[in-house]
Amino acid sequence: MNILFATSEIAPWVKTGGLGDVAAALPAALRQARQDVRVLVPRYPALAAAFPEARPAAALPSLAPLLPPCRLLAAGADGLPLYLVDCPELYDRPGNPYLDSHGHDWGDNDRRFGLLSRLAALLGQARSPLDWRPDVVHVNDWQTALAPAYLHYEGGAASVVTVHNIAFQGCFPAGLRAGLGLPEAAWRFDGVEYHGQLSFLKAGLQLADQLSTVSPTYAREIQDEAFGYGLAPLLRHRAAALRGILNGIDTAIWNPARDAALDYPYGAARLAAKRGNRRALQEEMGLEVRDDRPIFGVVSRLTQQKGLDLLLTVGHGLPHLPAQLVVLGSGDKAFEAGFTALAAAHPGQVAVTLGFSERLAHRIEAGADIFLMPSRFEPCGLNQMYSLAYGTPPLVRATGGLADTVVDLGEASLAEGSANGFVFADANPHAFWLALERAARTWHDRRTWRRLQQNGMRRDWSWKPAAQAYLQLYRDALAAKR
Ligand code: ADP
Ligand code: GLC
Repeated sequence: MNILFATSEIAPWVKTGGLGDVAAALPAALRQARQDVRVLVPRYPALAAAFPEARPAAALPSLAPLLPPCRLLAAGADGLPLYLVDCPELYDRPGNPYLDSHGHDWGDNDRRFGLLSRLAALLGQARSPLDWRPDVVHVNDWQTALAPAYLHYEGGAASVVTVHNIAFQGCFPAGLRAGLGLPEAAWRFDGVEYHGQLSFLKAGLQLADQLSTVSPTYAREIQDEAFGYGLAPLLRHRAAALRGILNGIDTAIWNPARDAALDYPYGAARLAAKRGNRRALQEEMGLEVRDDRPIFGVVSRLTQQKGLDLLLTVGHGLPHLPAQLVVLGSGDKAFEAGFTALAAAHPGQVAVTLGFSERLAHRIEAGADIFLMPSRFEPCGLNQMYSLAYGTPPLVRATGGLADTVVDLGEASLAEGSANGFVFADANPHAFWLALERAARTWHDRRTWRRLQQNGMRRDWSWKPAAQAYLQLYRDALAAKR
């Protein structure tokens, strides 16, 4: 099958979160399953630098009143073909793909992602300038979710939208409809209109042939008002076309036995070597080097979604548990200040690095004892799967993909060999604290701990099962189109 995978970020070049990882690993897994997948992504500076040899594949005139002319360049990364949208006016700028240096949305995100969506659809249509034609156009999150609208009103390939985070929807003033070249007939409650605005994500969820999100639990949650950010009624209406497919992890990059960022490679049968990474982490982060207390680890965007306000509330109690804490993250200024203050109050026991570092992320996954994700909502979450693969049992709130991957330690789950971490239900500091206490206590029980670690490490977290599930999704989209 021919599949065009359209995305606003792709690791390792442009990554703000899990979508970047997915956009690199899922197409690769589908190619391994012998499907012809190609990725469409803006030519941000990092991609221009990574692929200087990219060659022109097509020149395109202005496709709508508000969209500048652009070129498509073709490049290849490790056997994964990429189409780079070359439009310097919109994409040639430094920094985050969505935000300016003050943390505000780029003022022209409507055009930046309007163009990306328009092109994703065009490449799936008879008038595409390329010889290669996808059967399915697979788009991800709001930035590409307008493509199914063009395909619906103009015809073309079957379409699939995957929701990685429903909190971001891409809503813009109504005038944008004509500016992006969508027909007047699209301005309906069952078209692209959403409370008087043009919503990219709503348009995709309304008009795509099939919908998915990144875990079975999140697929159910977003049909509920508490999680749907206004889109729950539409998703209930389209429930028959919606499914949850759990993400995988890239086991070539996240494998403790072959991780170049680690000083001491290890595996399920060689767990003793993990201790070297623990000591190295304590030294690197300026924690007291001692092995009489567990280290809790966090690698995260610092936002409300991630529930880290709960950690800030109870954080001062950690040294008394006793436990140590390492945090790597960046995001909301208030969270950054809160964690900086927590570290300053507990030198040697709490260490915080603000910023984005792949290398340190790997070293925390390996060096910490327990990985924390108290998320308010979590569509899938990749870090808990990385930590499961690294023998670092996760402590998570029961939501979304966390609920689908982490099995709480209990007598029954331990006996049947499924227990692999700690799960708490309510998003309040008390419930979180009880879980932290329970995990810290269990860590001192070496035998139980080893079983928890090995249960997590022995499960297959790779993309293989997900790739098969996406193939079925594509087949169903094709059938729905006919
Ligand atoms: P989300 O996409 O909501 O941020 P995920 O758990 O799906 O959550 O994915 C987050 C990805 O981003 C992981 O690969 C994680 O390691 C990475 N990440 C997040 N913050 C940082 C950071 N400060 N430094 C390095 N990697 C980070
Ligand atoms: C989003 C979600 C995260 C998910 C990722 C990749 O950023 O917040 O839970 O793992 O997308 O699908």
